[in-house]
Amino acid sequence: MKNILVTGAAGFIGSNFVRRALKLKSDWRIVALDALTYAGNLENLKGLKESYKERYAFVKIDIRDKNGVFNLFKQEDFDGVIHFAAESHVDRSILGPLQFVETNVLGTVNLLEGARKFFKNEECRFLHISTDEVYGALGDKGAFTEETKIDPSSPYSASKAASDLFVLSYFKTYRLNCVITRCCNNYGPYQFPEKLIPFMIKRAIDGEPLPVYGDGRNVRDWIFVDDHNDGTILAFEKGNKGEIYNLGARCEKRNIDLVKLLIEKLKVFLKDRKGFKEPEIAFVKDRPGHDFRYAMDPSKAERELGFKPKVSFEEGIDLTVKWYIENEGWWRRIISGEYLEYIEKQYAKR
Ligand code: NAD
Ligand code: DAU
Repeated sequence: MKNILVTGAAGFIGSNFVRRALKLKSDWRIVALDALTYAGNLENLKGLKESYKERYAFVKIDIRDKNGVFNLFKQEDFDGVIHFAAESHVDRSILGPLQFVETNVLGTVNLLEGARKFFKNEECRFLHISTDEVYGALGDKGAFTEETKIDPSSPYSASKAASDLFVLSYFKTYRLNCVITRCCNNYGPYQFPEKLIPFMIKRAIDGEPLPVYGDGRNVRDWIFVDDHNDGTILAFEKGNKGEIYNLGARCEKRNIDLVKLLIEKLKVFLKDRKGFKEPEIAFVKDRPGHDFRYAMDPSKAERELGFKPKVSFEEGIDLTVKWYIENEGWWRRIISGEYLEYIEKQYAKR
């Protein structure tokens, strides 16, 4: 049995990962670590202990706490780390960058130190989950490859780029067995309703206007969360030491087109719901430093890892919109105190 530490396990991608990996990898035991910040929710991991018993454990640790991290490494004898934990929301990083430096940079280095000091041999792997945002913005043409120079625009992406550089330095300096994946925009169940897709669904259901930044022509490249997580497992198992792999599904959409598609889907799925009205789009002040376009070239992962996304955009969006309609209780329980304060700060004056 391999003993794997998964950080950020109660967040959107992390919780989907833990559920999927426990199902697909019967020789993995997963220690799911999370500090349970505003974005971490134990409800996302519900039922796993009952289903997987000793193959699953949850620990509440903040990765900024070096001693907490080291104690866990001493106790557990990990075969690998899959590191998702991060402050992940660009708009929040613009409102307050420091927390992003603390968690994304210092927290990552604490984990790297834990791995450097306590991994039992050089086969033990550290997989760092990064993002296309480290490459900055594209114009109308082209796509990011692993050779594209990093050029982050937001405090969030700068903190992720810094953490990537630390990971690469641990490979070069200490020969720690590190791999980095950089993925495009994920969507799917359990995504916190501050990110574009779940936020728009929530607002539409609540009859609120849908705030589109700028003119809505910015482009994002989308992947269903399970496809990202299958790529994560492949990179963990087959990636070459010290390498970076871009993950994406070649699925670019302009924000405005995506928001209009969500409205069309909701009109179909909610046609019988009393009081549901077609939501209005409100063009609001742009995000400062808003990257125009992202597009990932995942050829290296396809070629070297056999990475192949399976879920079409049409299928994934239907599944996601239905999930948010059927799991209204899940997001209603989240949108209280801290969430409302954030929404006020972020949108009131736009
Ligand atoms: P999320 O915000 O939904 O989840 C992050 C999780 O990390 C939460 O459970 C939170 O409690 C935990 N966390 C935050 N600070 C912590 C700390 N100090 N110690 C321990 N745990 C802490 O984020 P997500 O969208 O699931 O993203 C996961 C990872 O994937 C991040 O590293 C992000 O940069 C990366 N990523 C995300 C996307 C995307 O589209 N969402 C795309 C590419 C890469
Ligand atoms: O590209 C990968 C990144 O995708 C991840 O690294 C980040 O963790 C993740 O948050 C995401 O970043 P984005 O900034 O692209 O995602 P967000 O959902 O915040 O916004 C998507 C696009 O929609 C972006 O162009 C901004 C726009 N937007 C977003 C919100 C929340 C709006 O127009 N209105 C909104 O209210």
